[in-house]
Amino acid sequence: MRIGVFGTGVVGSTIASKLVERGHEVMMGSRTRDNDKAVAWTRKAGERASQGAFEDAASFGEVLFNCTGGTVSVAALEQAGAEAMGNKILLDLANPLAFVPGELPTLTVLNTDSVGEQIQRAFPRLRVVKTLNTMNTMIMVNPRAVPGDHNVFLSGNDADAKAQVAGWLDEWFGWKRESIIDLGDITSARGVEMVLPLWLRLMVTFKTPMFNFHVVRAPAS
Ligand SMILES: NC(=O)c1ccc[n+]([C@@H]2O[C@H](COP(=O)([O-])OP(=O)(O)OC[C@H]3O[C@@H](n4cnc5c(N)ncnc54)[C@H](OP(=O)(O)O)[C@@H]3O)[C@@H](O)[C@H]2O)c1
Repeated sequence: MRIGVFGTGVVGSTIASKLVERGHEVMMGSRTRDNDKAVAWTRKAGERASQGAFEDAASFGEVLFNCTGGTVSVAALEQAGAEAMGNKILLDLANPLAFVPGELPTLTVLNTDSVGEQIQRAFPRLRVVKTLNTMNTMIMVNPRAVPGDHNVFLSGNDADAKAQVAGWLDEWFGWKRESIIDLGDITSARGVEMVLPLWLRLMVTFKTPMFNFHVVRAPAS
């Protein structure tokens, strides 16, 4: 499959590398066609890897990943262009974090809105599925890095797109179907973005980002 990955940071490169490893053709998108990090990634990742502007990656990909900062995701996707993205499925991994030196990041969007909703509103044809944002990127592509059962969430308005994404999470990254929790429509992205303050505090407490959330239910009575 041809996949467009928006973002040259650690998340974009980790996702893109895993997808290439799985045999897909991947284009990493950035604000510029000659972004240093994207060029370096392409050289390292091999012949199935390429880089371009956000709009190039949007046109190239049959499926798209948003791995840009949550506070700039809509701006990045505007550069990608509504026409190039069309009604493709976009997996949105972004968190709306503001960084202040010496402090834990804070949320810039919360309670009544989310990055997932901002993207869906700005691009109504795009089939946005919020997922994978509640864990470190090494766990996104390798859930077995954390022992035992733990969960990944899906939020989105299009049931078929979510079913497709659940299959890809399993096939591409190794997420067992029973670990995937569909939370409902895109407004449920609020909840998964708002766990970030808890996630950040856990990282401080544990002194490692290598953990994940596991939801345990009582048996039905
Ligand atoms: N780190 C993790 O383990 C983790 C886990 C879960 C979720 N996330 C989320 O994943 C996303 C990516 O994180 P990251 O650390 O890999 O990357 P990042 O540094 O947050 O974002 C990098 C991308 O944002 C683009 N960007 C920056 N400013 C922009 C602007 N004004 N307009 C358009 N695009 C702009 C950059 O474009 P250029 O390439 O042109 O510079 C780059 O491609 C974030 O939303 C983060 O919260 C991260």
